[in-house]
Amino acid sequence: MFAVSSSGRPIPPGRPVDVLARARRVLGEMPEHGIGADAALARVTTALADGGIDLTSPFAAAHLQPPPLAVAVTADALVSAGNASLDTYDSGPAALAVERWVVAALARLAGLGADADGVFTPGGTLSNLTALLLARDAAAARLGLDVRSDGVGALPDPVVLCSELAHFSVARACAALGLGEHAVRTVSVDSRRRMRPDALASTLRAGGTPVAVVATAGTTDFGSVDPLPELAEIAREHGVWLHVDAAYGFGAVFSAKLAGLVDGLALADSVTADLHKIGWQPAAASVLLVRSASLFGPLERSVAYLNPEDDRAEGYDGALGRSLQTTRRPDAVKVAATLLALGRAGLGALVDRCHELAGHAAALIAADPSFELVGGATLTTVVFRYRPADDSLADEVNARLRRALLRAGSALIGRTEVDKVTCLKLTLLNPNAREADLAALLTLVREAGSAAERRLVEGAA
Ligand SMILES: Cc1ncc(COP(=O)(O)O)c(C=O)c1O
Repeated sequence: MFAVSSSGRPIPPGRPVDVLARARRVLGEMPEHGIGADAALARVTTALADGGIDLTSPFAAAHLQPPPLAVAVTADALVSAGNASLDTYDSGPAALAVERWVVAALARLAGLGADADGVFTPGGTLSNLTALLLARDAAAARLGLDVRSDGVGALPDPVVLCSELAHFSVARACAALGLGEHAVRTVSVDSRRRMRPDALASTLRAGGTPVAVVATAGTTDFGSVDPLPELAEIAREHGVWLHVDAAYGFGAVFSAKLAGLVDGLALADSVTADLHKIGWQPAAASVLLVRSASLFGPLERSVAYLNPEDDRAEGYDGALGRSLQTTRRPDAVKVAATLLALGRAGLGALVDRCHELAGHAAALIAADPSFELVGGATLTTVVFRYRPADDSLADEVNARLRRALLRAGSALIGRTEVDKVTCLKLTLLNPNAREADLAALLTLVREAGSAAERRLVEGAA
């Protein structure tokens, strides 16, 4: 079901400098005269197989980076062969139809109405950026300002509100959009790591020009989902754009069991959904959904060499006006193939299995005195720590043990920081992993932790 890319081990053993050097050596120098397609493909295959990761390994559990479905990989190869683009009608009519089809299907799953629209982007970071661009221009328009022509200088004290656990791409987008990272007001979270509506309301009352409330449906580390209906109500009262960053959590809509977690998506002005996270697509397969096609107004363009007005009037138009990109790869095709092949229920079963694995990993960790369970299993992640006898060594031991596993090539697990404390993370997106694999993975972590602890106590580097 999944495309196998490598040797079965999660990551190549060795120090990064050696692994990278080995891959470069396989390629050799760029030749003056080519070596031919077969030899060239053999070389890049060797470089990738020897020096790459294998996400089908049950010991690959670091990032929101799933093993891709074979059907999606195959469809993506077709896309490359066709080399269509989505900016104009005459650069890929069928691809435009496929994107419309996928956007409509995903908008329906999100519960957005008949006016909903959307566009694929090269990742959640870019979907969030595009959403905040639309929100910024809408906020400016409400004040009678034209940011597109005049820049953001005239927008007084812009403010973007998100929880303290929001993805860093929100702050980056503010910087890129000229709002400045200082525009970000972080709102505190409750004990379940969800944005506190009362804190949002008081931050909104504190002043500035609110550009957007950014809720997170699936925080990167914990999978926690902000209370969307309550936040939507507050955003509505203040007349502020509600963007939901559901890059991670959108996949819950495929599961009958978990869909309730993301109730309220339908109340958003815009939603980021990454199917290269929960969705088992090769990157990138990010979609920005909007409540109404009219919200794309700020991106509208008519360009003489692409989509002049008279051509558009006759229906010869593409999706240039929904995107910051001009040439744009039809990432929707692999998603269409996947939705057709598996259906909602097929994808839902994969989501449920990964959720179940996360619950199982959390239970194993909670029952093991070598570990402390920090949180997670809301979606498919579990955050935890190895506990050395001397707690003052914990940060260093956890950081070292993860690097030791990477260097040994035995396990690919994540790392994060919670309340200034170094933690480990399992991101379980391989539905083929078994419970026994999780137990074996945790044994590797325990052994690496104990070895790192011993070395530190003995004063070794
Ligand atoms: C909640 C959230 N939003 C946005 C992003 C950025 O997505 P991408 O890496 O596709 O740019 C991530 C990535 O992990 C994420 O977890």
